[in-house]
Amino acid sequence: MNAQTAFMETDFTQMLVSNVESAADANQRALTNTVISPRFYTTDFKAMDKLDVSSVRQEWDLMMQEYEGDNNHDHFQRDAEFAQEVKTLMSKLDENLKQEFYDFLISSLTSEFSGCILYNEVRKNVSNPDIKKLMTYMARDESRHAGFLNSSLKDFNFGIDLGELKKSKSYTFFRPKFIFYATYLSEKIGYARYITIFRQLERHPDKRFHPIFRWFERWCNDEFRHGESFALIMRANPKLLQGVNVWWIRFFLVAVYATMYVRDHTRPALHDAMGFKSTEYDFEVFRITSEISRQVFPIILDIDHPQFKASLDKLTALSMAMSIAKAQGGLLNILKKGVFALSAVLEFGKLYFIPVIQSKLPSQVRLQPTW
Ligand SMILES: [Fe+2]
Ligand SMILES: [Fe+2]
Repeated sequence: MNAQTAFMETDFTQMLVSNVESAADANQRALTNTVISPRFYTTDFKAMDKLDVSSVRQEWDLMMQEYEGDNNHDHFQRDAEFAQEVKTLMSKLDENLKQEFYDFLISSLTSEFSGCILYNEVRKNVSNPDIKKLMTYMARDESRHAGFLNSSLKDFNFGIDLGELKKSKSYTFFRPKFIFYATYLSEKIGYARYITIFRQLERHPDKRFHPIFRWFERWCNDEFRHGESFALIMRANPKLLQGVNVWWIRFFLVAVYATMYVRDHTRPALHDAMGFKSTEYDFEVFRITSEISRQVFPIILDIDHPQFKASLDKLTALSMAMSIAKAQGGLLNILKKGVFALSAVLEFGKLYFIPVIQSKLPSQVRLQPTW
């Protein structure tokens, strides 16, 4: 399956509307693939094994030293106040906000664990020492991240059975270049999302309704570094950033941004509790990600183009209409869903063809997480 068909074949109607009330519900949510939920990936390991990073050797070696230094080795442990904060803060929240927060924890965990599985599989299936070493470090980090999120789910008795999830969730095959575009973006967006939340709650500590947000600053530096690794791999293989591949990069940018926007607009109460609107939060994340991605992508999306937000809002409305039609059931709603799905594909096309901004690649690839 290629990237485009993976997106097009997704059931737009499988939006999640039911509440999480038990561990079984939480596990089911992690397992279900929807257009807006994180997926698991597999790839061509032989092609991964042939990657050559010698043209960026100096920057690569410095990055590997950072991984070896492992400055977050002691970070993912709870402090003495954690349990008490969960109790006092969460008891004040209304059910709607709690549900959005559980959804946030489950989708974040699925996404972290997805990285963990992919990086581990690549590690096991390659002998190329550069790639093997990199994947070992990244799998180490993602496993800590997933474990830390899972311990917060366990506080509510919603722990995810990671062994079962690994076995039962379906895997999407992506060629290595699609893995690079998608994973680079998801790592950098992950950084931008976590740092935006951290900075907001740093300014408004009264809005920090769960202690896990205190961990986000050092946490997102791991994600930033993971993104740097894929940036170096792509810059070492410039063909990935030229010709027809620029159309693929554009596709991934649009798909990843749109997915995030639609998903975040299913969680208005979560953003409201942190003191921002979902739209405002997402545009800040887009801005940071676009700024960072100039290190590797020759184009960035014109997020200030009036059609950009208009199309994202239309896609959000269509997803919601589809989930309502699905929940109501019946023949008429099946037809309605089909019409909405087609409109969503057309709207995605409009988004895709908004003129992009050309960007000149800098000679030095590496960036520091200074946002
Ligand atoms: Fe992570
Ligand atoms: Fe990561």
